[in-house]
Amino acid sequence: MAVRRLAPEAIQPASFAFNADNLAWAQTIVAKYPEGRQASAVIPLLWRAQEQHDYWLPKSAIEYVGDMLGMPYIRVLEVATFYTMFNLEPVGRFFVQLCGTTPCRLRGAGDIVKVCESRIGDQRHVTPDGNFSWLEVECLGACCNAPMVQINNDYYEDLTPESFSKLLDDLAAGRPVKKGSQIGRTASEAVGDLATLVDPSLYDGSVVGAWRKRFEEEAAKAEAPVDTQAIAAQAAAEPKPAKPSSARPEQATDTPAHRVAEGKSPVSKAKTAKAADPVKTGSEKPASQEPELPLGDKPTSYAATPLEGAKKRTRKKADAADESKD
Ligand code: FES
Repeated sequence: MAVRRLAPEAIQPASFAFNADNLAWAQTIVAKYPEGRQASAVIPLLWRAQEQHDYWLPKSAIEYVGDMLGMPYIRVLEVATFYTMFNLEPVGRFFVQLCGTTPCRLRGAGDIVKVCESRIGDQRHVTPDGNFSWLEVECLGACCNAPMVQINNDYYEDLTPESFSKLLDDLAAGRPVKKGSQIGRTASEAVGDLATLVDPSLYDGSVVGAWRKRFEEEAAKAEAPVDTQAIAAQAAAEPKPAKPSSARPEQATDTPAHRVAEGKSPVSKAKTAKAADPVKTGSEKPASQEPELPLGDKPTSYAATPLEGAKKRTRKKADAADESKD
């Protein structure tokens, strides 16, 4: 990329100011930012200044924007000279920005450069009729349709030297031109026949319909009321072991199903008794054989175990009591 400098003094205008429409627009843009953050509006304001001034930014426009935003001129200059979207010197009525990045190069951007050089001349040079100038820029984000150029605000893609030459002829002659792909494809769809997503069932609803039908059937099954009597009758008719028998030599014979088949209660008396026993069910702890800890004599955290500490303290108290008796 070449060094970006302001245009020579000889062609700099004496002053710059927004016209009434642009001034009103600029004030609405500046008002979007909180107090003290007006500098954030520098890029849109510079862009509007460039549009108003034949698509290039004179020094006076840069200073005007700096004054409007309360920015030092050097800060506005930093922005204007950094971004290639800001032109610092006059451009042609049709300003061609040619993408020279790798994908476009691989697809023939070099041939488009040759057309620019032969039809327009060197970069940053405006043709004598004022119609054209061109500049090689970095990727413009239309790599799928390489090679491509941007002319003013529009993209022209899938170019060949012939189609690009004709495009320049038509623009110069004021004839209508086709924007976007020059080979007729829509956006960046595949060149030639479509090779993917071509199955018609993807678009007639049958695939989605089949899935929906399955979901509806499963939902209906889940919502159907449970017939407990039928289940009990089936269990009685075909008793099954409570657990899979494949890995066990013994067969379970005292299952709820067996008991129902024999006309007994599904739950055995032994299990009912066990369920009622609070100790066996774990809802109540059995009486501990360990000595109860006296109140205020709680084990400390540095004992080997809390219980061990309590035992030692109980033994000590018993020994002391024996000694006092003696
Ligand atoms: S490389 Fe040319 S548009 Fe991206």
